[in-house]
Amino acid sequence: MRRRMSLPSTPPVRPHGCFITFEGTEGGGKSTQIRLLAERLQRLGRAVLQVREPGGTPLGEEIRHTLKHSPAGQSMTPEAELLLMNASRAQLVRETIRPALARGEVVVCDRFFDSSLAYQGYGRGLPLEAVRGVIDFAVGETRPNLTLLLWVPLEVSEARRRSREASSPGGVGVRDRFEESDRGFFQRVEQGYQAIEAATPGRIRRIDATQSIEQVQADVWEAVSRLL
Ligand code: TMP
Repeated sequence: MRRRMSLPSTPPVRPHGCFITFEGTEGGGKSTQIRLLAERLQRLGRAVLQVREPGGTPLGEEIRHTLKHSPAGQSMTPEAELLLMNASRAQLVRETIRPALARGEVVVCDRFFDSSLAYQGYGRGLPLEAVRGVIDFAVGETRPNLTLLLWVPLEVSEARRRSREASSPGGVGVRDRFEESDRGFFQRVEQGYQAIEAATPGRIRRIDATQSIEQVQADVWEAVSRLL
């Protein structure tokens, strides 16, 4: 007589958490692409957490206001700007990103530490080693698995920013300290992203964001599906 062996029940397979960030200068269509990606992942049954930087937590959103819109921000030094960006980031990583990754979710973040290198390092001219040190302290081991760099030339970025301003109620939106920066600043940010991309070929994938929304979405999906 054969004895029946009871096998230990196999625990359900839980997908690994995965951390994807979107980067680029203004006007690259990050918000639209993040929304489309999140919807597609959710249709496939993945739990997705969408967050943005600076911000993404109640504390981070207050810091975001100070950084972008508060009148007190007008006299902000580059050093204070770097630290506030990374205070928001440190909170977001611990309060939101790490728990979501531990639950096996896909975390999609609108900007992350590459923005600090590009904007505060290259754009504002802070020493890159100091910027990296602050970032390391803020994020610890929490690093993106994939970064999609949505690329538009400076002229396209400027034109998209202008049309966004013109289409806001009354022709003028809420003042944004970053969008008021001069051309030289955005040129340095653009050069910064180029340098970061060259130094980080495995993680960063550049996508031509002058293409149609559908084509950009297809390129984004191509990179993400390979990762998942
Ligand atoms: P956005 O959400 O409209 O992209 O605005 C965020 C602004 O903050 C944008 O101009 C880029 C800037 N920024 C930095 O300068 N450093 C950073 O680390 C991050 C996350 C954003």
